[in-house]
Amino acid sequence: MKKNRSIEKYKVGVIGLGYVGLPRALQFCKKKISVIGFDIDKKKISKLNNGESYLTNVKSNEIKKYINNGSFIPTSDFSYIRYVNNVIICLPTPLKKNYDPDLSYLKNTFKIIKKFLIKKQMICLESTSYPGTTFEVFVKPLKKKFSIGKDFYVSFSPERNDPGLKIDISTIPKIVSGYSKNCIIKADNLYKKIFQKVIKVKTLEIAEMTKIYENVFRAVNIGFVNEMKKICSAMNIDITNVIESAKTKPFGFMPFYPGPGLGGHCIPIDPFYLSWKAKKLGIKTEFIKISGKINRSMPSWIIKKVFEYFKQKQKYLKKDLKNMKFLILGISYKRDINDLRESPALEIINQLLKFKASVEFYDPFFSRIPVTREFNLQKVKKTSLDKSKISKFDATILVTDHSKVDYKKILKYSKVIFDTRNKLRSHNNKKVIKL
Ligand SMILES: NC(=O)c1ccc[n+]([C@@H]2O[C@H](COP(=O)([O-])OP(=O)(O)OC[C@H]3O[C@@H](n4cnc5c(N)ncnc54)[C@H](O)[C@@H]3O)[C@@H](O)[C@H]2O)c1
Repeated sequence: MKKNRSIEKYKVGVIGLGYVGLPRALQFCKKKISVIGFDIDKKKISKLNNGESYLTNVKSNEIKKYINNGSFIPTSDFSYIRYVNNVIICLPTPLKKNYDPDLSYLKNTFKIIKKFLIKKQMICLESTSYPGTTFEVFVKPLKKKFSIGKDFYVSFSPERNDPGLKIDISTIPKIVSGYSKNCIIKADNLYKKIFQKVIKVKTLEIAEMTKIYENVFRAVNIGFVNEMKKICSAMNIDITNVIESAKTKPFGFMPFYPGPGLGGHCIPIDPFYLSWKAKKLGIKTEFIKISGKINRSMPSWIIKKVFEYFKQKQKYLKKDLKNMKFLILGISYKRDINDLRESPALEIINQLLKFKASVEFYDPFFSRIPVTREFNLQKVKKTSLDKSKISKFDATILVTDHSKVDYKKILKYSKVIFDTRNKLRSHNNKKVIKL
């Protein structure tokens, strides 16, 4: 990218072009607001410049259109920060090995960009973190260089997108907040251009806590319904029928659905951000602890059920699943996306291997299992879904219910299917064991 004056027409900078940042950048382009997109991953930058998408929820055509008309400029050169009016930060906020918040992506990036920041710009953080982060990481150090709210603006606006949902993200109400009234106004003006409804909240901390509250709410309720599933299973009651029946109540109830455990970058991680902060204030987060424990126990519960099933049939099974072959169907953490982060499928595969079983997988989004923070399962190979292949497995474990799978074929040729998502319930087939 050449440095010339024409660059001044670019108004928004988005740092971190992942599941949150890339769709956000394109939202602005769609409204004819030019974007410089920043990412340290040079492969991603090169793909984007070639008009290629690496996300299932973003179409290559859309990227191509904005690259060709010059409204989207992806780069790894952070000095271009000086040419944008607004800097939106969509960087990862993962956990450290000890489950403490890891703000290193935010802090390191800030160190790099701070020398390029100029008066009248606004930084808006969209990454999820505990209340106080925007102040600590951005406001505090920037106060040494600028008068925040007067000649520089800082805001926080949580991301609420759900990449698996086929929903126009501009229809999701957008919360904005800022360090001062002026910061809130700036953020409101920016996001109003791309969201149908913007909700202003009074402080950075209210907005930060709103996001964490929403996600902990999900984690706790999923933990609860997973516990209900275990109880129902022991009592031979169909949990889905219970949920369907309960949700006919027009008030005071909201359905959550059980599954093989939690995955993704948000629900399994964000509760730890809140626990960490609460602990610093001397408060124990009991709900988070218990729901986390239940959700993490789901892969083991599934394996236990699988083992019990085979033990009942084949009395010779003692303590492992030696010589048995399993097909894991779907490895992403949720349907129809190519995101493997914290996926329960990995824990299920890992446990099967520990039980000495042999395992292969099928997922339309993956040709192999990439190495993750916790698992190296590269030796687990992808199988095809041919009749001869499916029928050689002792069982299929349906972990992720992607749409692009021929379930009729799976049903026809599998010996038995453990369905952890209740995907096959309408088929009413005796081969299906609902877990
Ligand atoms: N994925 C979701 O559905 C979702 C929903 C709500 C909130 N969030 C939050 O949004 C934030 C981003 O999540 P995500 O899912 O988009 O993450 P992601 O991993 O998909 O994207 C992050 C991007 O940042 C890039 N990156 C890493 N370090 C960088 C650096 N120093 N400079 C520039 N780029 C860098 C990575 O290459 C990657 O492209 C997180 O805080 C997450 O909790 C995510």
